Amino acid sequence: MSVFAAVIVAGALTAHLVAPAGHPDTLRDLAAKHHLRIGTAVDTAALAADAPYRAEIAGEFSTVTPENVMKWEVVEPRRGTYDWSAADRLVAFAQANGQQVRGHTLVWHNQLPAWLTSGNFSADELRQILRKHIFDTVSHFKGKIWQWDVVNEAFNEDGTLRDTIWLEKLGPGYIADAFRWAHQADPHALLLYNDYNIEDVNAKSTAVYDLVKTLRAQGVPISGVGLQSHETVSYAPNTMRQNLGRFDDLGLDTAITEADVRMDLPSDAIKLQAQANVYSTLLESCLATTHCLSFTVWGFTDKYSWVPSTFEGEGAANLLDENFQPKPAYAAVRTDLSVTR
Ligand code: G3I
Repeated sequence: MSVFAAVIVAGALTAHLVAPAGHPDTLRDLAAKHHLRIGTAVDTAALAADAPYRAEIAGEFSTVTPENVMKWEVVEPRRGTYDWSAADRLVAFAQANGQQVRGHTLVWHNQLPAWLTSGNFSADELRQILRKHIFDTVSHFKGKIWQWDVVNEAFNEDGTLRDTIWLEKLGPGYIADAFRWAHQADPHALLLYNDYNIEDVNAKSTAVYDLVKTLRAQGVPISGVGLQSHETVSYAPNTMRQNLGRFDDLGLDTAITEADVRMDLPSDAIKLQAQANVYSTLLESCLATTHCLSFTVWGFTDKYSWVPSTFEGEGAANLLDENFQPKPAYAAVRTDLSVTR
């Protein structure tokens, strides 16, 4: 048995040993009663190295998202040379633990390989490169991905399209093309547009709404919208149900895809309670929405989080602390999932 196979089996065996004492149900059990999947982003280096981290993921979550290892710079570091190894290991882990996989992400302006960003390609070449990337990636994982984040973060805060290599060279049609190509490569995968700061009704979420409405009207195969939900303790979205509801009304799915709630460090009881309230706002909004399919946190432990290295002096954004101890936010999520609807 390979080391990784042993790891997978260990993860599967510990799946029901990790709920805190007095809490017989895991988050995934509680979420299943609402037909909701609860997920986490996964740092695959930590997955390989950290047994308690692995056990928590196997036990508590019913969907996983690779935090980095399906991004373009990782899967195609040199033109035409693919490295699926880390992503394949996560998919195998998920299958061994009865979890769905969210594919993240096909078209983005970040974490692109240098050969692509500095290649000075013509519009025709770039279009072929993007098409090939989508076909190759989606085909490689065909049948194994539940939801793909097809296009990520294409809008500015004011609702205009973000100035990226894709918009600049290909024009706004790259978005519809990406969905069409992804659908051709795996007709059964759900295909989402994914962005941040679109939890409330605002200029950006309205631009996303207008886009997906237009795409639907044109017959473009888009399934729904991912709301990343990177928040802070000082503000809880207050029009989120209304916002999710308008996507529901269009017949589109929604998903909370990257929830975390950061604070100025150090944490204290007041900030931790405020954090719990924001997590509750996000989750309750999803639970109140008919077609909100999944609630994914962008990492579940403060031990591994993108926040401190991005926002100086901020952190403690996750449900568990660095020692995997539950915070008030974890209790709030349990309580929300325990309510019978
Ligand atoms: O690739 C190098 C690796 O070779 C090197 O060994 C390592 C050592 O520092 O750095 C690696 O790159 C880092 C990469 O994560 C993988 O660990 C980058 O420096 C770092 O910037 C990168 O950060 C990721 C970030 O996206 C980059 O845009 C975060 O982990 C990841 O959580 C974050 O995720 C994004 C979502 O994809 C989209 N939405 C926002 C979210 C948060 O920014």
